[in-house]
Amino acid sequence: MKDPKKKAAKAAKANKPTAVNAKKGGARKAGNAAKAAARSTQEEPKLYKTGNDIKKSARVELIGLLNKRLADAVDLHMQMKQAHWNVKGPHFIGLHKLFDEIHADTGEYVDLIAERAVQLGGVAEGTVRTAAKRTQLGEYPHDIADGPAHVDAVSTALATFGHAVRTSIDEADDLEDADTADLFTEVSRGIDKWLWFVEAHAQATK
Ligand SMILES: [Fe+2]
Repeated sequence: MKDPKKKAAKAAKANKPTAVNAKKGGARKAGNAAKAAARSTQEEPKLYKTGNDIKKSARVELIGLLNKRLADAVDLHMQMKQAHWNVKGPHFIGLHKLFDEIHADTGEYVDLIAERAVQLGGVAEGTVRTAAKRTQLGEYPHDIADGPAHVDAVSTALATFGHAVRTSIDEADDLEDADTADLFTEVSRGIDKWLWFVEAHAQATK
């Protein structure tokens, strides 16, 4: 999705304003509906019975949110391998090892996010086909080789995912799920660290 705000606005429009909405508080309701629409996936997720006390409507949205970030995380996970395999140049060994460490860590994030969706009664939708359809990350460039180009491409991927995850913290918070917000916070903190490790290769002259 290129412009979440546009999508949210469109969704709000689709949720046509009722007479009640048109009155005081209507704008806020429409805003909330837009937020919910922007958060949810296209299809209503399948829900399993659970004793988890988070209300069903919130769990539906949380599962949708988690599956969106799962798609991004699966994509990021393999993009880091792509960088690990193809980087060349004088800083080869350092970057080769660094990108593999990030790959391993992002694998942990994939698992954390997927299992949270299942804990909420949902289905984790983490196949590569689903990830390819849903990911918000750009395709990793195939025609680059030298270290600085990979540093730039990996930084872009990490920053894009980092932004999406940070936004997801607030969305989980809005849905009153402190645990999912905490999970996203943990992932966000890790991504910020890796972004620092990678960007530091390009910051010496600034
Ligand atoms: Fe390897």
